[in-house]
Amino acid sequence: MKITVLPGDGIGPEVTAEAVRVLRVVGAIHGHNFEFEERPIGGVAIKQTGSPLPSTTLDTCLAGDAVLLGAVGAPEFDSMPPNLRPEAGLLLLRRALGGFANLRPAISYDAIAATSPLRSEIARGADILIVRELLGGLYFGEPRGFFGSNGDSVARNTMIYSVAEIERVARVAFETARKRRRKVTSVDKANVLETSQLWRQTVSRVARDYPDVTLDHLYVDACAMHLITTPLRFDVILTENLFGDILSDEAAVITGSLGMLPSASIGGSVGLYEPVHGSAPDIAGRGVANPFGAIASAAMMLRYTGSLEQEADEIEEAIRVVLKAGYRTPDIASGETRLLAKTSEIGQLVCDAVDELADMRHSYHAV
Ligand code: IPM
Ligand code: MN
Repeated sequence: MKITVLPGDGIGPEVTAEAVRVLRVVGAIHGHNFEFEERPIGGVAIKQTGSPLPSTTLDTCLAGDAVLLGAVGAPEFDSMPPNLRPEAGLLLLRRALGGFANLRPAISYDAIAATSPLRSEIARGADILIVRELLGGLYFGEPRGFFGSNGDSVARNTMIYSVAEIERVARVAFETARKRRRKVTSVDKANVLETSQLWRQTVSRVARDYPDVTLDHLYVDACAMHLITTPLRFDVILTENLFGDILSDEAAVITGSLGMLPSASIGGSVGLYEPVHGSAPDIAGRGVANPFGAIASAAMMLRYTGSLEQEADEIEEAIRVVLKAGYRTPDIASGETRLLAKTSEIGQLVCDAVDELADMRHSYHAV
C-alpha cells in the first residue's frame, strides 16, 4: 500500500507521526509492505510554495492508494479570503480524491466515559457513525463570493444538491448500517430548505432497497439536542456537508474529546483518512496532542482502502487496551489520572499493545 502522509499544520505533524509508527508495526507483524511519502499541505505549503495544495502534493496523492492527513489551519491566515487559506488546500484535495462519504465514528469508550461532560448513564455505550456528505452543499456550491456595489457589501454561498449526490451517499449509509445495528437517521432541515426536501425524498426512496434497515428523519436542530440528551438512540446518522461538520464536533462531547475522533472519506479514487480535530495551534509543538484520532484514522485506512479488517480491529483493540491501562493525554485526563502521557508515549504504548495482541494470537493458535 502506497500511503501519502500530509502532516499539515499545528499538531498535525505530531499526531500523524504516531499513526505512521503504529502502521509500521502492524505492517511488520503481518508482513505488509506499507510505503510512506510525505508532502506539504495547508499553511506550511503556502509558506514553502505559495499554494495550500502544491501540484506535487496532489500528484503524489493521486498516484498512491491512500492519504493520511494531520490537520490544516493557522491563525496567521485568519484574515485571508477562503481561497487563499490553508483550509482551501484540504477542500481542493477532498474534491480531487473524490471521497464523497465521510465516515465519522463517535464512540463512548468505557475507560474514559467519565471524561465526557455528559452524565455517564447518558453517554456510556454510545456508538454512533456519522456519514457526512463531503463534496456538495454550501462548501462547494456556486455562485459564491463577495458581491455588491462596493465589491464586498454582500456575500453569498449556495446550498445545492442533486438527486445523484444524495443517493450515492445514502447508499453508503445504508450499506454501513447493515454491518451495525441497522438503523439510519437522516438529518435535514426539510421544514425550511428545498435542498433538504430533496434530501428527505431521495433518502426515503433509497431506503426501499434496504427493507432490513430502519430509517427515521430528524430536523438538524432537534438532532443537535437528541445527540447529547439521548445519544444511545442513534446508530448511523446520514446528513449533508455543513450539518455533518457541526454535528460531528458536537458528537465529540460523547467521547470526551475531539482528539479521539477519526474519519475516513471513501467512494473516490483514493481514500482520505484524517482525524476530525483541527490544527490546535495553542498546543502545537509541545508533545501533548492526543494522537488517538489520528491512530484510529490509520485503522480506518487499513479497513476501507486495504480491506485489512483484522489489522484494523487490532489497532482499535490496542487503543482500548491503552485507555483501559489508564494512560491519558491532558484532553482526556481527569482528577483521577495518574498516567499522564505525551503524544509519542501514547504512540509507543499503542505499538506495544499491538505487539502483545499479536503474541497472544500466536500462542493461541499454537495451542
Ligand atoms: C473538518 C474541518 C474542515 C471542514 C475544515 C478544516 C475545512 O472542520 O474536517 O471537520 O469544515 O470540513
Ligand atoms: Mn469540522
